[in-house]
Amino acid sequence: MLITFEGIDGSGKSTQATMLEQRLRKKGERVLLVREPGGTELSERVRSILLDPGVHINKMAELLLFSAARSELVEEVLVPALRNDTIVICDRFTDSTLAYQGGGREVAARDWLEAFNRIVTNGLVPMRTYYLAIDHAEAMRRRELREGGNNGDRMEQTGTDFYERIISSYDDIAQTDCQRVMRIDGRLPVGEIHDLIWADLDELKVEG
Ligand code: TMP
Repeated sequence: MLITFEGIDGSGKSTQATMLEQRLRKKGERVLLVREPGGTELSERVRSILLDPGVHINKMAELLLFSAARSELVEEVLVPALRNDTIVICDRFTDSTLAYQGGGREVAARDWLEAFNRIVTNGLVPMRTYYLAIDHAEAMRRRELREGGNNGDRMEQTGTDFYERIISSYDDIAQTDCQRVMRIDGRLPVGEIHDLIWADLDELKVEG
């Protein structure tokens, strides 16, 4: 079973992904937590290029690099783990491409990107996606607290309009793909968000 977490930078998705991993592990489940881009040697190296503020990357090259990292992760890590009945939690997946490259960068239309994502992942679709929704001002406030005066990575250095487009893209995905995507108010207390996720998974009867 593949579970993914989505949201803009600072939405709290990584905290939730880790809390879920720990709780499932305590319950005795076989579980694997990975992040995107990342999770293999190549994907981690591609990640450092993608996030480096000193590297100029055009928007098509950016799409292809995120997708290259994903292809490697899917084939080398996700598919073998899923075959092994492991619950895989992925901190970001294909919806990030729809929201950031599609919505944010406007590199291509959503249906084109959806078809492209299917090719890259060989048709792997998450069973459930938790989208933590927060507005850009709140995300900036949290990042400021976390990183102090630091300007952030290459993606985070892009302006407010970019993030507004990403948010509306995520909202759109959550609406049109509501069977798979659960939108959660990211301003709720951390424990409350975790309880919502746990209750939802319980309803889905999560087992490896
Ligand atoms: P994160 O690990 O802090 O979430 O950073 C990853 C960054 O990469 C984040 O700004 C979102 C961005 N990203 C994309 O633009 N497209 C993608 O497909 C993925 C997976 C991430």
